[in-house]
Amino acid sequence: MSILAEQFQQLSTLLHQARGDWQHTPFSCTELPWPELAPMLMALDEAQIDALDQDDAAALAWLAPMRPHTAAAHALSLPELERATDYATPRWSNGIGGRKWAQIKDFAANVPRDTHPVLEWCAGKGHLGRLLAQQGAPSVTSLEWSADLCIQGEQLALQLGLKHHFHCANALDTDAAELFQPQQLAVALHACGELHLRFLRHAAQAGTQQLALSPCCYHLIESDVYRPLSQAGQQQDLKLDRHSLRLPLQQQVTGGERVRRLRHIELTWRLAFDELQQHLSGQPHYLPLPTFPKRLLSGDFAEFAHFAGTQKGLTMPKAIDSQHWLALADQRRLLVKRIELVRHRYRYLLELWLLLDRALFLEEQGYRVNLGTFTAIEHTPRRYLLRAEL
Ligand SMILES: C[S@@+](CC[C@H](N)C(=O)[O-])C[C@H]1O[C@@H](n2cnc3c(N)ncnc32)[C@H](O)[C@@H]1O
Repeated sequence: MSILAEQFQQLSTLLHQARGDWQHTPFSCTELPWPELAPMLMALDEAQIDALDQDDAAALAWLAPMRPHTAAAHALSLPELERATDYATPRWSNGIGGRKWAQIKDFAANVPRDTHPVLEWCAGKGHLGRLLAQQGAPSVTSLEWSADLCIQGEQLALQLGLKHHFHCANALDTDAAELFQPQQLAVALHACGELHLRFLRHAAQAGTQQLALSPCCYHLIESDVYRPLSQAGQQQDLKLDRHSLRLPLQQQVTGGERVRRLRHIELTWRLAFDELQQHLSGQPHYLPLPTFPKRLLSGDFAEFAHFAGTQKGLTMPKAIDSQHWLALADQRRLLVKRIELVRHRYRYLLELWLLLDRALFLEEQGYRVNLGTFTAIEHTPRRYLLRAEL
């Protein structure tokens, strides 16, 4: 059994046993789901919860006496892979944000140079592909479905005289599989759920020699429940629904005071609206709201509640007693944060499980696989890289 397979088995056992810790939907809970953790959680005020939640090491140390296996499992850390020697910006990189540029440079530092033609999957404007072309790739084909991004990328490649072309198509169309060749380096930087699952399947099917993938948005899949890619994953299936698949993404790395304040308002208003809609409908069930434009958060709660009610097809009263609903939300916000404080301690472990499932799939297909972090967390929280070679 490979090291990755051993780690996967260990992790699967823990995550199965601890399912009751990470699977809850905090917005649907009316009380703490763990009586044994209640004294510790109730002893924390909101500022203490926020501070602890921001500090992973401190939060794990806090939880360790009650959940020693969860804390211990974090020893399964991934190695740091190669990093760029510098982040100096050439003239052509104008318009690429500093953090994106660092990600691209670090990603490029982890792929073999000038050996095979490159296929860049879900390329955006093809910044990564352009850098690889600059660094000597024999040719680069970037797949992207936005015609606008393809045109912009083509123009940049033309200006620089690079062998870099765009293939404007839907990555989920069956004929996208034909882009994969054996003598090729296929790369995907931040390809969402279904898109990177297809990438892996197509590459394995074609016998593509070199792969590099940094996955993101695990929840953006076609089915309601994740079907593991690897045989090992199918045997240890955690039956992850979209709610659980989102958990790894709930890690906030950046954000100043303003971002924090907006998050606070959003959480409170969502909960206040939920209290109001439960009252109006007489149904004691949480009604999730989809994402909405953040500018709504700079108005007042009553306006927001009318917007949300219309979204959900509810008839809203003309006058809304904002103070009343916001006070109820304050109570519930604390409950949500207490539950999240525990759930968040499984963010990394669930992401690792998903990454290992992908890694084991490639091992099962005969690839030598290497998994680690390709860039610093300040550049992006989605910083895991799967490198594989046949
Ligand atoms: C998160 S962005 C990553 C872009 C680029 N790789 C980067 O890291 O800057 C994902 C890209 O995938 C493209 N995309 C989304 N769905 C797609 C599909 N079905 N087929 C092709 N491209 C798609 C989006 O337009 C977007 O440019």
